[in-house]
Amino acid sequence: MAPSDPGSSPSGSPRAPRSDAAPVPAALALSDTSALRALEEADADELYALIDGNRSHLAKWLPWAAEQTPAGTLDFIRAGHAQIANDNGFHAAVLDRGRIVGVIGFHGIDWQHRSSSVGYWLAEEAQGRGTMTRAVRAMVSQALGVWALNRVEIRASVENERSRALIERLGFHYEGVARQAFRLADGYHDDAVYSMLAADWPSSTDAGAPGTLSA
Ligand SMILES: CC(C)(COP(=O)(O)OP(=O)(O)OC[C@H]1O[C@@H](n2cnc3c(N)ncnc32)[C@H](O)[C@@H]1OP(=O)(O)O)[C@@H](O)C(=O)NCCC(=O)NCCS
Repeated sequence: MAPSDPGSSPSGSPRAPRSDAAPVPAALALSDTSALRALEEADADELYALIDGNRSHLAKWLPWAAEQTPAGTLDFIRAGHAQIANDNGFHAAVLDRGRIVGVIGFHGIDWQHRSSSVGYWLAEEAQGRGTMTRAVRAMVSQALGVWALNRVEIRASVENERSRALIERLGFHYEGVARQAFRLADGYHDDAVYSMLAADWPSSTDAGAPGTLSA
């Protein structure tokens, strides 16, 4: 399901930094009130409190959420800095009126095949306003537009209707089911696999305008 995982290191294919490393935005405006910005160590307490307050909401879909600790949240933020240093994508805080309401990130970048995958989560009370749809749109534009990657994949549990609705709203192509691809407390679950290709972005249904660099 490719979650943004504040409990383990971002995965992918880390490699030595390049002299022409992909630019990473410090912040991306999503709307008048919402934005993405780089996570800092100073965010650890606020981010952990958000996870702790949304534990049951998140643990329905995200394997790391049930066991997340303050130290694990700090490790996640630090791993994100290493991810940027390794030219391997980035994770960002999703902000609403300056408060962290979620996280979105790339699970590494495969530069050989010019592909990446995205994961995300929102606090329960921040749902229903289109914030994550805008955030995913901005990340896909970053990957396929700014970095000129060819493919972005998103996986969601076949049972995760909200996440699948978001992915389909952005015009992602449904590729099929990865059987028993992830494990939660109650056992294995199937992932629905979706992709967006550069050739289909942003002309796909409701893909809309790319995110705006604000810093
Ligand atoms: C998956 C998740 C991010 C989806 O959240 P969401 O609120 O449905 O997504 P958005 O922020 O894009 O908001 C979409 C909703 O806002 C509404 N909306 C309002 N204005 C909108 C706009 N301008 N654009 C898009 N949607 C808008 C949509 O109609 C939709 O509401 P609906 O579900 O009642 O139809 C959230 O449920 C979540 O974090 N869940 C737990 C963790 C998780 O599942 N992570 C993903 C693992 S794959």
